[in-house]
Amino acid sequence: MDQYPARIVVLTGAGISAESGLATFRGEDGLWEGHRVEDVATPEAFGRDPALVHKFYNARRAQLAEVEPNAAHLALARLEAEWPGAFLLVTQNVDNLHERAGSKQLIHMHGENSKAWCIACDRRSPWSAPIGEDSPCPECRAVGALRPDIVWFGEMPYDMDRIEEALRDCDLFVSIGTSGAVYPAAGFVQTARYCGARTLEMNLEPSIGSIYFGESRIGRAGELVPAWVDELLAATS
Ligand code: OAD
Repeated sequence: MDQYPARIVVLTGAGISAESGLATFRGEDGLWEGHRVEDVATPEAFGRDPALVHKFYNARRAQLAEVEPNAAHLALARLEAEWPGAFLLVTQNVDNLHERAGSKQLIHMHGENSKAWCIACDRRSPWSAPIGEDSPCPECRAVGALRPDIVWFGEMPYDMDRIEEALRDCDLFVSIGTSGAVYPAAGFVQTARYCGARTLEMNLEPSIGSIYFGESRIGRAGELVPAWVDELLAATS
């Protein structure tokens, strides 16, 4: 890296949580009880069949109690704690494994499944239980107004201004465990690269936008990410 201490932006996707036991979106047959993920992850689906959408996210929320952060989550938290330059972690994941590993400079651009969002009072509450159509909002007591705090297809991801600014300013952009199928995250590499950053992807297979990365490391995040963090921190000592 020419400039030191460098500013790093890391983007993660479902692949980083795969070794913790959480299913990716586009792996295997990519279906949940016969539904395509896109069919349960839209405001239209929620309007049509809220019970089905709640069931999908309730099942995924319950799983969070059974899984632990893996070596890749822990390595990113260590990098943030020990890196002398600026660091931002942007995740597309709605699980809570990054924060449980210790990450602090973290943006959940697609929301968080461990929060409920009340569309009556617009407040968000921590949530670990199932959400039902009859669950009252703990803030305003409205019934039937809670939804999982998830950014669905067709909705605007969170904190895009902050993310865009960090991408334009960064020296190194790293993408981990994401297929590159969903925008705007899939386009981050091009923004960072256009603004002069080095770019690296670490994924089980080349992502859809693999050609935009200066370097690709192919393998499991649980092995690649700790090795990369060791490499980077060794270069600063
Ligand atoms: P995908 O399921 O599309 O992609 C996961 C990627 O991780 C794939 O390219 C896998 O090859 C890779 N992978 C699997 N296991 C891995 C491992 N152990 N180590 C490294 N890589 C591994 O998931 P995302 O790209 O995160 O959006 O999907 C993006 C968005 O689409 C999600 O945030 C979600 C979904 O619909 C919303 O819910 C709005």
